[in-house]
Amino acid sequence: MKNVLLTRRIPSSVLSKLESQCAVEVYAGAGALPHAELVARAAGKDALITLLTDKVDAEVMDASPSLAIVANIAVGYDNVDLAAAQARGIVVTNTPDVLTDATAEFTWALILGVARRLVEADRAVRSGAWKGWALDYMLGTELRGKQLGILGAGRIGRAVAAKAPAFGMHAAFAHHPSASALGLKTMSFDELLVSSDVISLHAPLTPATRHLIDKRAFARMKRSALLVNTGRGSIIDEAALAWALQERLIAGAALDVYEDEPRVHPDLLKFDNVLLAPHIGSATRETRTAMAELAVRNVVAVLSGADPLTPVTSAL
Ligand code: GLV
Repeated sequence: MKNVLLTRRIPSSVLSKLESQCAVEVYAGAGALPHAELVARAAGKDALITLLTDKVDAEVMDASPSLAIVANIAVGYDNVDLAAAQARGIVVTNTPDVLTDATAEFTWALILGVARRLVEADRAVRSGAWKGWALDYMLGTELRGKQLGILGAGRIGRAVAAKAPAFGMHAAFAHHPSASALGLKTMSFDELLVSSDVISLHAPLTPATRHLIDKRAFARMKRSALLVNTGRGSIIDEAALAWALQERLIAGAALDVYEDEPRVHPDLLKFDNVLLAPHIGSATRETRTAMAELAVRNVVAVLSGADPLTPVTSAL
């Protein structure tokens, strides 16, 4: 029997499918598996089923000469050293498609939430700060007629854009060969920054996108702009975001991802016009089960000599 390490619990219905075909070790501790323990537990394994909180580097891969696949339960795979895997002939898979709708829906929850000050409003009711209906109380901003600027024309960015007409918004994407090939409305990154009312980030984290939203970018945005991030935290320079909010260079932000999760830049906690979610973009029962299932199917395929369903082929 092949040996599989699961770095976190998955739904039991999915786990039992894996256990019927492989010897499975599940890390059941609270939180992420410490790196040294990941290396130790990887020894002798043929497959690793990992999460985005696991740093799967060469050291982990070298712990097991028989390692054939790293199946990441996430669409993003910046936590896996793909070059190291490819150099060792190890297959890497992710979980695209199954989380597209959940993440796009959640992006809209954040857009609506920050535009209409939903969390701030909830806090006001709970704390007793609400003193009754008033014409000018808790005013937000309307979405109709506004531009949704999207960075990243992958599945999630496009799914978010597809819902824009329902709110009377028009979507535009930052220039990228894939966006142009799909016939999407595109403009230069700077033009997108200057002209968008809501800017939503859906690009993968790469050396090119790390801190793409920096002081320079904030200085170009409309003062009424809202920034939404359900991609990866490090696309935004969080210190620059805190500066931009302090200087009132933008009107608000809604974040689901952070540079150093679960830590949040302490200055961001001070602003009422920032909505903070704990990386739950794909967190629906249906989607998280489907993600685990896809990772398991990838492992079972590769360990039985078949092709993986969703291999990652290019470095981010
Ligand atoms: C979540 O952030 C994912 O990449 O699936």
